[in-house]
Amino acid sequence: MRYYLASDHAALELKSALHEHLKDLGHDVVDLGPYEASSVDYPDFADKLADALGADPQARGLAMCGTGIGISIALNRHRHIRGALCHDVTGARLTRAHNDANVLVLGARLIGIETAKDVVTAFNEVAYEGGRHQRRVDKLSQER
Ligand code: RB5
Repeated sequence: MRYYLASDHAALELKSALHEHLKDLGHDVVDLGPYEASSVDYPDFADKLADALGADPQARGLAMCGTGIGISIALNRHRHIRGALCHDVTGARLTRAHNDANVLVLGARLIGIETAKDVVTAFNEVAYEGGRHQRRVDKLSQER
């Protein structure tokens, strides 16, 4: 699986730790930035991630900001993104199984690194169930 990573300045340390974790799990990882601690705007990095997944729809994303909220809002303005802000393994498991989430979002100021690694592992391992969920997932990307 290829994972594209994006964050803002508040999540550099978490992004770096999870980059290593995903590589340890055997994934191809592409870090879309930022690469240094100066202040940036999370919508810009959400857009970079959305563009990458638009061009590579089989891949997944991992996005982070301080709370995970701002970058979630920005990501989910793109119809092909199903970004899920998760704080625990149960949320990560269920959003894969029920929502076919293609981006995991984490709040770097709210989650510890070890929990974040477990959340990433769960998100990666669980398959989408389809079935009764498909009609709902299809509606997420419909024009409004
Ligand atoms: C940056 O200070 C902070 O606002 C951002 O990382 C995020 O938490 C916004 O939702």
